[in-house]
Amino acid sequence: MATYHDVYRRSLTDPEGFWLDAARAVDWDQAPSRALDATNPPLYRWFDDGVLNTCHNALDRHVEAGNGERTALVYDSAYTGERRSFTYQGLRDEVARVAGALRGLGVGVGDRVVVYMPMVPAAVIAMLACARLGAVHSVVFGGFAPRELAARIDDAKPRVLICASCGIEPGRIVAYKPIVNAALKLSDHRPDKVVVLQRDQAPATLEEGELDWDNLVANAQPAKCVPVAATDPLYILYTSGTTGKPKGVVRDNGGHAVALAWSMANIYDIGAGDTWWTASDVGWVVGHSYIVYAPLIVGATSVLYEGKPVGTPDAGAFWRVISEHGAKALFTAPTALRAIKKVDPAGEELARYDMSTFRTLFLAGERLDPETYRWATEKLGIAVVDHWWQTESGWPIAANLRGLDRMPIKPGSPTVPVPGYDVRVLDPAGDEVPAGAEGAICIKLPLPPGTLPTLWGDDERYIESYLLHFDGYYLTGDGGYFDSDGYLFVMGRTDDVINVAGHRLSTGSMEAVLAAHPAVAECAVIGVHDSLKGQLPRGLVVLKAGVDISPDQLREELVAAVRAEIGPVAAFKDVDVVAGLPKTRSGKILRKSMRAIADGRDEPVPSTIEDPSVLEGLRPILRPRE
Ligand code: COA
Ligand code: AMP
Repeated sequence: MATYHDVYRRSLTDPEGFWLDAARAVDWDQAPSRALDATNPPLYRWFDDGVLNTCHNALDRHVEAGNGERTALVYDSAYTGERRSFTYQGLRDEVARVAGALRGLGVGVGDRVVVYMPMVPAAVIAMLACARLGAVHSVVFGGFAPRELAARIDDAKPRVLICASCGIEPGRIVAYKPIVNAALKLSDHRPDKVVVLQRDQAPATLEEGELDWDNLVANAQPAKCVPVAATDPLYILYTSGTTGKPKGVVRDNGGHAVALAWSMANIYDIGAGDTWWTASDVGWVVGHSYIVYAPLIVGATSVLYEGKPVGTPDAGAFWRVISEHGAKALFTAPTALRAIKKVDPAGEELARYDMSTFRTLFLAGERLDPETYRWATEKLGIAVVDHWWQTESGWPIAANLRGLDRMPIKPGSPTVPVPGYDVRVLDPAGDEVPAGAEGAICIKLPLPPGTLPTLWGDDERYIESYLLHFDGYYLTGDGGYFDSDGYLFVMGRTDDVINVAGHRLSTGSMEAVLAAHPAVAECAVIGVHDSLKGQLPRGLVVLKAGVDISPDQLREELVAAVRAEIGPVAAFKDVDVVAGLPKTRSGKILRKSMRAIADGRDEPVPSTIEDPSVLEGLRPILRPRE
């Protein structure tokens, strides 16, 4: 086994050699002659003269290599009881037909397609069909409300929108079509066509210009893979920024395929023929990278699970899936483990299943608290591996590289920077801090292949959001420190992004909804610690003078407004009416100080505070709920 330190050093001192070697794991129509294009800093591109097709790499090449009968995708719905397997050949043929159908609707290279679907095979097929045509998909998570969907439609300007008639959540069917209809009323842009996958649980009534997925595909001629430039966009995935307007993270084709292939071998130790399960959602980056593209690119079997970790039907749901499909590894968010632990703290459900294939549990999406780490390690008796990354990076920034060099695990740390990422911790002046000291976690430019080259149609916002804070560095938005062994500890966001049950949300966009209520003079939303979901949003509102509304009614209206405007996934249920908000003398709301009180942390009150008694007055309201 190579040692991590040698490989890491080479990735930074010889990035050309390192990444051109890594690029051999991918099939190219035209192999790249160079790795990094640094002619236009701070915008960098990878493999700029390479030509390839990502769908070919995910499907066709495995079929052409004689592995068409291998299982590519296993669909398992805990809600409907349905199980369905696709071989590589079967999935390739289905994707080719759907690509043909989309081409018939005028979709070609560079056209955008918005996908608003739950965890069904058609979602994966739609994504791969876009990739096949060189079109750009933008998947929107099903838990978002019409306004969020509309914002993405207006930014991406899709030629076609594909949706399902419904999603399923425990105890309720979520009709998607009314959400799509409402979004299209709110958006300025109109897609040429809307394609609807009908699900038996709640078929939708189709209106003029809307097409039934099954009919459309039944009459379609299969389409071949269209070679595209490595630097062409594969997808746009919107994520929460510090303001209400979501950021359209762009992913290219070439760097993405190379980085994902490298990560499967070196980080996850997964290759052709292995069964791999990522329990997330295709609407998040984890789903894009590790449900869809990475496992297929390396020829593994990917499990697509529609369900929750508990209550579907019980706390053994995840163990059932692992044992039934023979998964070698599971990747999920710590919240899922906490949910299981809460219902089955002794891990009794585990005894019901044969877990002999299960080797590694990978966790990411939010901080892995040491207690959950210890519980999972003790109950499962396998390696529990924390790793850290974000929508922007597209693949892990820090990890314990299980396929390269299995380093000792330290609870609370995602271990070390992944090769390709020059991670530094900086103080506000931009100087590196010594081991043990906390600062802003940054990555020295250029970022490695697979990471975002820019934001969709907005280089300026990309540069402003990430590159202007520290010259020559990408700002991750997370704070943390290195210990003296070079292990990274990620302590949490330093901006207004919060992580609720592994779902990334913006408190800024929730504040915008609260502020729009006619009774609200000013407001703040902070993310506070929650023992199950990691964080939960809490709102504080100050009433306009002379407004006559009961606090209970206002609370109800505000909770409903956030649900309607952002979506149920915001999990916004807690809001207090207060007399005032603590501010600095220049009028900035002291959210950090309120968060510290709500999390039970003792932090000094900033000397810039205008009136300390306002913060003191909030203490009883803010104190930790649990
Ligand atoms: N479509 C519609 N609604 C959705 C939805 C979707 N795709 N996903 C979630 N929602 C709704 C839920 O039904 C819930 O609604 P409610 O307020 O009416 O109950 C709300 O959004 C909040 O959802 P969630 O935060 O998922 O809470 P939950 O109580 O339903 O489940 C967990 C809690 C911990 C079991 C669940 O969040 C989980 O499995 N998390 C794993 C994390 C994960 O996959 N992260 C992705 C990154 S790795
Ligand atoms: P997302 O873009 O949705 O993947 O969310 C990314 C953010 O989630 C990061 O910026 C972190 O704040 C947080 N995060 C993800 N993984 C971890 C981890 N392993 N430890 C701590 N925080 C994490």
